[in-house]
Amino acid sequence: MAAQRAAGEKRILCVGLVCLDVISVVDSYPAEDSDTRCLSQRWQRGGNASNSCTVLALLGAPCSFMGSLAPGHAADFIVADFRRRGVDVTHVAWQPHGDVPCACCVVSAASGSRTIVLHDTNLPDVTERDFERVDLAQYKWIHWEARNAAEQERMMLRVERHNSALPPAQRIRTSVEVEKPRDELLPLLAHGDVVFISKDLAKHFGYGTAAEALRGLRGRVRPGATMICAWAEEGADALEPDGTLVHADAFPPERLVDTLGAGDTFNAAVIFALSGGQSLRDALTFGCRIAGKKCGIHGYDGIV
Ligand code: FRU
Repeated sequence: MAAQRAAGEKRILCVGLVCLDVISVVDSYPAEDSDTRCLSQRWQRGGNASNSCTVLALLGAPCSFMGSLAPGHAADFIVADFRRRGVDVTHVAWQPHGDVPCACCVVSAASGSRTIVLHDTNLPDVTERDFERVDLAQYKWIHWEARNAAEQERMMLRVERHNSALPPAQRIRTSVEVEKPRDELLPLLAHGDVVFISKDLAKHFGYGTAAEALRGLRGRVRPGATMICAWAEEGADALEPDGTLVHADAFPPERLVDTLGAGDTFNAAVIFALSGGQSLRDALTFGCRIAGKKCGIHGYDGIV
């Protein structure tokens, strides 16, 4: 009975990057052109949308990942890891050409900082055509990590058309994360019921706090959208469609251990809470709590 219910439960889909993270944990960040030893090293499945799927799965939400891979060792590792976590990979777009993106990540034990150098150049992204094969009726929430904006905008328009024929309670809720300060991604701010704006993007626009950024960028989101901006140890703010500002404090761990994927964890936890019917304030607090927990551990095991 429980299994039947789980099988019929609507899912959350995250569209975006998956990559291989080769993570070196160092005691302190190395000097340029130095030759040092690290404390430990591991491979980890990475990419914002992929990391958010990990967290959603750990929180107990049925979820699917949609992004590109090319066959080979890296993809074998990545797919095995998705399966281990129970993330559905039906919608992975297998590309005949290009390399699976790979990132060298240096996590500093002294500060908890993560420094990422990503090779993300030649693997084509998922397209509107790939997205046409998604059976929308299976999903209650679709999240996009902004990447190939023109194609992603068309995917979002498909969902908007689908929703317009449905009563509000049956509509798919949508979210978009604009993290990288790249002009071509900005049109995506105008889509999505929930718009996640990164601290990086906010700073790029010259804002000094999350609240300033949300108020300043409000004209770019569509009426009815909720905006959210997390600001590390300052916690996170959200702007309701009616202009009400909501704040949640951060939950800093005793010691900052590993901040790689903390933002993706926050997004996933907020989506999980909102899709389960929690209020914006509760969702924001939950996001900060789970992200704080993540920063106190290596990887994701132990966030719940
Ligand atoms: C963390 C992350 C890493 C990846 C990089 C890509 O947010 O998704 O897993 O290497 O960012 O930008």
